Amino acid sequence: MKVTVFGSGYVGLVTGTCLAEVGNEVLCIDTNEQKIAMLKQGEVPIHEPGLDVLVQKNIAGKRLGFSTDVAQGIAHGLFQFIAVGTPPDEDGSADLQYVLAVARSIGKNMKDYRIVVNKSTVPVGTADKVRDTIHETLGERGIKLEFDVVSNPEFLKEGAAIDDFMKPDRIIVGADNPRTIELLRILYAPFNRSHDRLVAMDIRSAELTKYAANAMLATKISFMNEMANLAEKLGADIEQVRLGIGADPRIGYHFIYPGCGYGGSCFPKDVKALERIAWEVDYSADLLKAVERVNNQQKQTLFNKIQSHFKDQMAGRTIALWGLAFKPNTDDMREAPSRTLMEALWKTGVRVRAYDPIASKEAQRIYGSREDLTLCETPEVALEGADALAVATEWNIFRSLDFERVRTTLKAPVVFDGRNLYDPGLMASQGIVYYSIGRPTVA
Ligand code: UGA
Repeated sequence: MKVTVFGSGYVGLVTGTCLAEVGNEVLCIDTNEQKIAMLKQGEVPIHEPGLDVLVQKNIAGKRLGFSTDVAQGIAHGLFQFIAVGTPPDEDGSADLQYVLAVARSIGKNMKDYRIVVNKSTVPVGTADKVRDTIHETLGERGIKLEFDVVSNPEFLKEGAAIDDFMKPDRIIVGADNPRTIELLRILYAPFNRSHDRLVAMDIRSAELTKYAANAMLATKISFMNEMANLAEKLGADIEQVRLGIGADPRIGYHFIYPGCGYGGSCFPKDVKALERIAWEVDYSADLLKAVERVNNQQKQTLFNKIQSHFKDQMAGRTIALWGLAFKPNTDDMREAPSRTLMEALWKTGVRVRAYDPIASKEAQRIYGSREDLTLCETPEVALEGADALAVATEWNIFRSLDFERVRTTLKAPVVFDGRNLYDPGLMASQGIVYYSIGRPTVA
């Protein structure tokens, strides 16, 4: 089938590439000429494991193309996927200008039936706005053409996006026309594996499903972080509690890892946006507000522990920081807990020697060159001359700690672990002062 994808960012690129991989003819459209020029050469501007190989393979197979020509895109695909950004406005609501600009272009250029599929995360009711916009622009042209608008939210995780797309838990399709649902069933058939993954529903429910999924996951994390904080005060061990509650299949083991807060481009933005959506219909989403508040506090927790360890004598110290990305396998630092920590440390006159397997370049882009940030080539170099080590991201490379090196390279063997990577008993036996999340401190 022929597919056009508007927006060659994270979601659009993964969607277009995976749809090409299963045999569709996909044309990806983006207004950024430099990005399209790169992609035409098979150069992928984002870090996502496995994506570059798939892009190159499908370009070579002539199933995947890139263009800045919007009219060509609209002429190409029966399916017109909208996967452009919806950045938060100042009040937290999603900015729809890019989504509606694509809708206008479709209205201006379409010549026959099109299925407009919305992949961007958008407030409930956006499909109606997209439909109205296309109607309006068709009206300006003085013509009537048939089209359908579908909500098909994505559930990709950064770092695992290809797998998530190729082997989805579910494919949500919100549509008000059974014929459209059948066409999407055909498009998505290759991703079903053993059973049909497509869940068809009305459009507004599909739009809300996306927010509800992310808000539920964020709630699980904030809940666990709250339990962790309580465990610290009560002398309990949150990791034992996690295993204890996860064993109940009604709770499950997923997404109950306590830590130094959730980050990324999705949870913080979507929780805020859903709060805003609720406010607009006169509903006070108290639980979501608490989820956000707990997370903002949790992102301060490493700093608070460092500050209380050094008894407020912070100025002039150096902290080694392992992990800059908001989670492993990505170079994304949006809303990353590492940023909250570094910015708080800098305010108190502390220098940071940071190491991340791939996000250093991103840190350089965000913070530029500053005297109180040294981006190091290896985790070991980051330890040199530092007063203590803090861990903000659970990269695998950090999991087996070289105790001897920590003892001999740091000025004093003190570790602040925001991801509970190490065994407190082992740290104690190695003579390392160890602070973690929701577990007794080892001194
Ligand atoms: C999230 C969702 O997991 C995807 O399903 C969704 O499609 C995506 O948002 C989106 O809306 O686009 P992502 O933001 O890539 O994906 O990352 P996650 O793996 O969900 O992690 C988010 C944050 O939660 C990270 O900072 C991670 O460290 C934190 N986290 C996760 C915890 O603190 N504890 C956990 O148990 C799990």
